[in-house]
Amino acid sequence: MKQIEEFKKEITDYSASDEKSVEEFRIKWLGTKGLVKNLMGEMKNVSDKKFYGQVINEFRQIAEAKYQELKSLTTHDSQLTTQIDLTLPGDSIPVGTRHPISLMTNRIISIFQRLGFAVAEGPEIEDDWHNFTALNLPEHHPARDMQDTFYVQQNPDWLLRTHTSNIQIREMQKGKLPIRIICPGRVYRNETVSARSHCFFHQVEGLYIDENVSFADLKQTLYFFAKEMYGSDVKIRFRPSYFPFTEPSAEMDISCMLCKGAGCNVCKKTGWLEILGSGMVHPNVLSNCGIDPNKYTGFAFGMGIERPALLKYGINDIRLFSENDVRFLKQFTSAV
Ligand code: DAH
Repeated sequence: MKQIEEFKKEITDYSASDEKSVEEFRIKWLGTKGLVKNLMGEMKNVSDKKFYGQVINEFRQIAEAKYQELKSLTTHDSQLTTQIDLTLPGDSIPVGTRHPISLMTNRIISIFQRLGFAVAEGPEIEDDWHNFTALNLPEHHPARDMQDTFYVQQNPDWLLRTHTSNIQIREMQKGKLPIRIICPGRVYRNETVSARSHCFFHQVEGLYIDENVSFADLKQTLYFFAKEMYGSDVKIRFRPSYFPFTEPSAEMDISCMLCKGAGCNVCKKTGWLEILGSGMVHPNVLSNCGIDPNKYTGFAFGMGIERPALLKYGINDIRLFSENDVRFLKQFTSAV
């Protein structure tokens, strides 16, 4: 009887946190080799079988009740789960949106990627040589003036790049030819911030260097780009221009998409919008980078991202691009 009392106490005090320990409980007390069976087997050895039978019965009931209790506690979770309506829609997770400048950049890049151009990038903090000298900008050229360029105070040879053309230099220096790259990036100029201009903005630079690259290749490539970007009915014109790093140089205009060439405020009544600068890479630039200008020729171009993005989305203030106002940013949910 003393032994049974001890067993009862052990059963009452037992607690189980998982199904495994409930099963252990069952095996120990109620299994075919369990203690309840064991105690029943003792029946043949006792004299007062009726009394002993009652005690064992009661004991078995206690063990069984405890087992049911433990079972219901640990299977509680799975019972709950079956009450959940799995067909209900879940809570939606808010998804971020791409920045309109990224959308525009990606679209430009993907057009050139289809022509076999690879993406290349370069540093925003650059030295004078890669940003100016190597690009055939003579030392006293106005573009090097303090007014336009942010110099790094600690080292006057360092500056914030004023254009993505530094990437052409860095890629040409690597000496692996031919080169066919498209180079997105942020650039900096010391300009007053207003609705129309900012002290930093974005550009995409392109460069193609190989044997026998001609101005006809430049025109065809940029024609293809303009039609893919602005639609097949857009009109395109090249105007002679000047850049120190290209000879000859040309700027490309497209017919104004707002007034369809009739003349409006955006195109300043000209019917045309200037979209990029381009030209045949100057022989000096090639030799500055260790490329033989008698063997190789190439073309380059550079375009701003902000202005086409303003036009595309009908935005009237360039500062919105860098203010991080989510009410502005979340409007650009669909791909361009
Ligand atoms: N770097 C020029 C700028 O920032 C754009 C440019 C013009 C890049 C002609 C070129 C080019 O590669 O050939 O205004």
